[in-house]
Amino acid sequence: MPQSTVRRLRSQEWFDDPSHADMTALYVERFMNYGLTREELQSGRPIIGIAQTGSDLAPCNRHHIELAARTKAGIRDAGGIPMEFPVHPLAEQSRRPTAALDRNLAYLGLVEILHGFPLDGVVLTTGCDKTTPACLMAAATVDMPAIVLSGGPMLDGWHQGKRVGSGTVIWHARNLLAAGDIDYEGFMALTTASSPSIGHCNTMGTALSMNSLAEALGMSLPGCASIPAAYRERGQMAYATGKRIVDMVHEDLKPSRILTKQAFENAIVVASALGASSNCPPHLIAIARHIGVELGLDDWQRVGEQVPLIVNCMPAGEYLGESFHRAGGVPAVLRELARANLVHRACLTVSGQTIGEIAEDAPEPDRDVIKTTGEPLKHGAGFIVLSGNFFDSAIMKMSVVGDAFRKTYLSQSGAENTFEARAIVFDGPEDYHARIDDPSLEIDEHCILVIRGAGTVGYPGSAEVVNMAPPAALVRQGVVSLPTLGDGRQSGTSASPSILNMSPEAAVGGGIALLRTGDRIRVDLNARSVNVLVDEEELSRRRAAGSFEVPLAQTPWQELYRQTVGQLSTGGCLEPATLYMKVIAERGNP
Ligand code: FES
Ligand code: MG
Repeated sequence: MPQSTVRRLRSQEWFDDPSHADMTALYVERFMNYGLTREELQSGRPIIGIAQTGSDLAPCNRHHIELAARTKAGIRDAGGIPMEFPVHPLAEQSRRPTAALDRNLAYLGLVEILHGFPLDGVVLTTGCDKTTPACLMAAATVDMPAIVLSGGPMLDGWHQGKRVGSGTVIWHARNLLAAGDIDYEGFMALTTASSPSIGHCNTMGTALSMNSLAEALGMSLPGCASIPAAYRERGQMAYATGKRIVDMVHEDLKPSRILTKQAFENAIVVASALGASSNCPPHLIAIARHIGVELGLDDWQRVGEQVPLIVNCMPAGEYLGESFHRAGGVPAVLRELARANLVHRACLTVSGQTIGEIAEDAPEPDRDVIKTTGEPLKHGAGFIVLSGNFFDSAIMKMSVVGDAFRKTYLSQSGAENTFEARAIVFDGPEDYHARIDDPSLEIDEHCILVIRGAGTVGYPGSAEVVNMAPPAALVRQGVVSLPTLGDGRQSGTSASPSILNMSPEAAVGGGIALLRTGDRIRVDLNARSVNVLVDEEELSRRRAAGSFEVPLAQTPWQELYRQTVGQLSTGGCLEPATLYMKVIAERGNP
């Protein structure tokens, strides 16, 4: 767009307001001290933020430090002025007690930056799990032109001729270690082989799932999610993304025009087709609530449950991110889903194209990796929502319910999709690690492992711990997985068919706090129910006996987080924050 026709931009309120010369001078002068000129700052060219999530503490996203040079080149070539700034580090693999605690913190910080600084648009650099929802939640709240640039997955990992995927290999390797098939050195060699290059997890874990959903929502350029970090196309995508955000500012193309209810429904459909992470429901619900779209677990079941699994990536399948990219990535998935009329074609994307147009343009995918909906890897691969006599909601990821689980549990009682098991109850991950190998628990293949105290309030942020491994003695006998249930989450890289994200959690008075080791639990997937076979009087007695003890917070943020966070079923949001999209629209940016 020619500069002369450009409307007055938000940043000019800071940099070019002759009626407030004193303030304008203050705003302008300090940006000049590193070489920007007054002419640039008062030119009316869009000021584009680059929300930098990479750092030495965030290795999955560290590559964005280099990519920013290409993003800035794109911004400059399109007539904008880039300004890079840091986002609180979000590092899934190293943050204690859990990176989930940081999603809402990074969100809060980014909202303040976008709201309080002279920016007209923003490039959201994403990658590791929580970076995508945190950035999108903030862009939604402020409703400023925003575009997602993923850093991309690592190259495929290989060990002794086999693909090894980050995260997923851990669950496999810990069984080999427990069974005595490998030692510590072998364990380290096998697991670290999964990380062969820069980039985020190469499995269809939370990182690749959420970046793919950002693309399905329409918030990144087509093809952005899957390009491996180490490929030259990643730098080219950074350049194209930088160029595009400048035009988006001129077009005033804001998240609220893209993040519609239909866009979220598309993302849910894509999630099922991908075999996406069990963290996607809370993250997507959180993004929706921050843009003012009503989205709940019922939408996940209604829209996503019957959608088939067509992407053959770990943990539900065999391949990894690099193969997914070469097979066609998200546009190829949209192509298949559009052909089956499973997505809303008219949804707008940051590219200016609709989802339908992107699907049309996508070439025929590599069929080893991306199947047709007619011959999928699995039918009905979405999330189901369960409820019962001791909780309101929990989810189960059907794409990882495999033949072994079906055979061992789901046909055990004669009634299909139903089983009963003896509960072994742990109060948080520390208790699980301390007692799982205790022989007095007499854990066998007729047990269900229960963990509580792992929800948003109980283990602030909510721990990824529900996919508990059986005792080593059982693993040595060949029982490598047991049914599990809990008020926490599990890693998106896990293939465990757990009953997850149980809400309300024990720490806020949820009935899971009343369970005791030895209780019988009945799971009926047809009825979508999980009930404890204990009568109501006994449950009342247990309820009267006292409430669940929550460990003290360790930091000020944990304390503040606990006071304001909601349950996983509604996105684990800071509840007062979910109203602010409308508040900012009313009161305006400063
Ligand atoms: Fe960062 Fe998996 S640990 S992407
Ligand atoms: Mg994780």
